Amino acid sequence: MFNPCSRAMKLLACVCGLALVACALALENGLMRTPPMGWLAWERFRCNTDCKIDPQNCISERLFMDMADRLADDGWKELGYVYVNIDDCWMAKQRDASGQLVPDPERFPRGIKALADYVHSRGLKMGIYGDLGTYTCGGYPGTTLDQIEQDALTFAHWGVDMLKLDGCYSSEDEQAQGYPRMTKALNVTGRPIAYSCSWPAYQGGLPPKVNYTLLGNICNLWRNYGDIQDSWDSVLAILDWYSENQDVLQAVAGPGHWNDPDMLIIGNFGLSFEQSRSQMALWTVLAAPLLMSNDLRTLSQSAKEILQNKLMIKINQDPLGIQGRMILKEKSHIEVFLRPLSHSASALVFFSRRTDMPYRYTTSLARLNFTENAVYEAQDVYSGNIISGLAPEHNFTIIVNPSGVVMWYLYPTMYLEQPLNFVRQQSSMKGFHPLVL
Ligand code: GLA
Repeated sequence: MFNPCSRAMKLLACVCGLALVACALALENGLMRTPPMGWLAWERFRCNTDCKIDPQNCISERLFMDMADRLADDGWKELGYVYVNIDDCWMAKQRDASGQLVPDPERFPRGIKALADYVHSRGLKMGIYGDLGTYTCGGYPGTTLDQIEQDALTFAHWGVDMLKLDGCYSSEDEQAQGYPRMTKALNVTGRPIAYSCSWPAYQGGLPPKVNYTLLGNICNLWRNYGDIQDSWDSVLAILDWYSENQDVLQAVAGPGHWNDPDMLIIGNFGLSFEQSRSQMALWTVLAAPLLMSNDLRTLSQSAKEILQNKLMIKINQDPLGIQGRMILKEKSHIEVFLRPLSHSASALVFFSRRTDMPYRYTTSLARLNFTENAVYEAQDVYSGNIISGLAPEHNFTIIVNPSGVVMWYLYPTMYLEQPLNFVRQQSSMKGFHPLVL
């Protein structure tokens, strides 16, 4: 999202319609240099609006205040989980007399501004949902092209920090006009509002229909595939699509602009312990947003440990912001994923698609394309164990559980000027002193 113009110039260009087209079209809000982290209501709480029958779980200010409290009090915020994001079904069924979006008065009696104030008072950020089209996917008022500027101003006035703009009930042409227009409208508000675009998901997610260069300039993140459901099949379908299209997708992610494979469902009902660990590890190598959709009030200790793994989060939040990819698909149904990290480190995920028993997988770093003449050390991200003295050509064996992962944080500990064998052969010779850097 490089933009040669200052914020002030950009605003001028946007407001006055000057010929600085690149500036006028760029979202340079400086946000999300690493993937966003937080909580998003949709997968777990859907469009449950019946607060009479289900007051604890309906889409209401109470739900979001509860989640804000949990994020602030249970150690999430300090780890980076700061977004409290509303999804669909928060609105009243009609706009007000001035055409402004309004929240459902019974479920949000104090309004969104008061809710955002509360979220901010807890040291967190507030996200909201809109839909470019006549209706939201759940049938609430949408944002048509002529309402974009008004809605952006409303969100800014309420103190919103992030907008997810869905794309139900709009045409391809309206989306092509509307998504960039919302970028401009958000810029003009002067409030930094992160912008999540569902546009590519409505256009098949791939070029030539999807222009990722443009998206990288106008959105901080984008959904490009179907909705996650509370099932392992759903996680696998998303992962497979990401792997099949990784040449396209890897290249377009980076600081400020991310692919979004959708929410983390860890802590819900559909994933086993191993599968939960797998979703976390795989989303982390994909440099995906870590937006949980679960019930933080009742989360199990094991789910919490997976989601709060510090080394995992450090990897997800690596400042280089390079998305990882699948580098090997073995006949044994082990898949290996690699994400390059800063300080010459890497994240490796050994993922088992097997359904029989823990599998003993033997490989070497050389087979995984580590050709540097170096010795490596790895930290197992889940067990914390350190594995030292890994030379590229040496075989090692790990045990990967069915639908589970072994994940390593790998880094060189020593670079050798000469190949190890050469050093070993020569070092016994009189007067020869190998240089080991
Ligand atoms: C679409 C989106 C989901 C969610 C729902 C809400 O399906 O892809 O993430 O926002 O709409 O209705």
